[in-house]
Amino acid sequence: MTYRILVLHGPNLNLLGKREPKVYGAVTLEQINIDLAQQAADLGMQVTCIQSNHEGQLIDHIHTAATNHMHGIIFNPAAFTHTSVALRDALLAVNLPFIEVHISNTSAREAFREHSYFSDIASGIIIGLGAQSYALALKAMPNLIKEHE
Ligand code: DQA
Repeated sequence: MTYRILVLHGPNLNLLGKREPKVYGAVTLEQINIDLAQQAADLGMQVTCIQSNHEGQLIDHIHTAATNHMHGIIFNPAAFTHTSVALRDALLAVNLPFIEVHISNTSAREAFREHSYFSDIASGIIIGLGAQSYALALKAMPNLIKEHE
């Protein structure tokens, strides 16, 4: 069984590499996605990587993941982490295992970044390990999916 994983990147993550490099590092989103595709192939999985700056589009992609029978979601909701009941409800609606990922350590930043609308409903969270947060999430996916089956 080849597990198919949706990797969903929220707003402003298209600017990785240029955006606040002291906080988010120098790696571009394109490079993160290339590395994830290679890692997925090595682990016998497939990733579909999508970035959107629009809440409704992110919701639509979560719905489509379920209708397309994807097995799990790796999600960096970016600023929507701290604001979006609608994205939380979308994830509850599709009932796919998902891992919440953040590049920066949100607990070491402004107080408003402490609260996430996703952490209590996620299968797991990986925060503050830079771009490798995504790779660690992908590595964890097969076991999560098996537990969810
Ligand atoms: C982020 C953290 C969020 O607080 C912020 O709004 C982002 C990126 C991260 O990956 O560190 O855009 O999700």
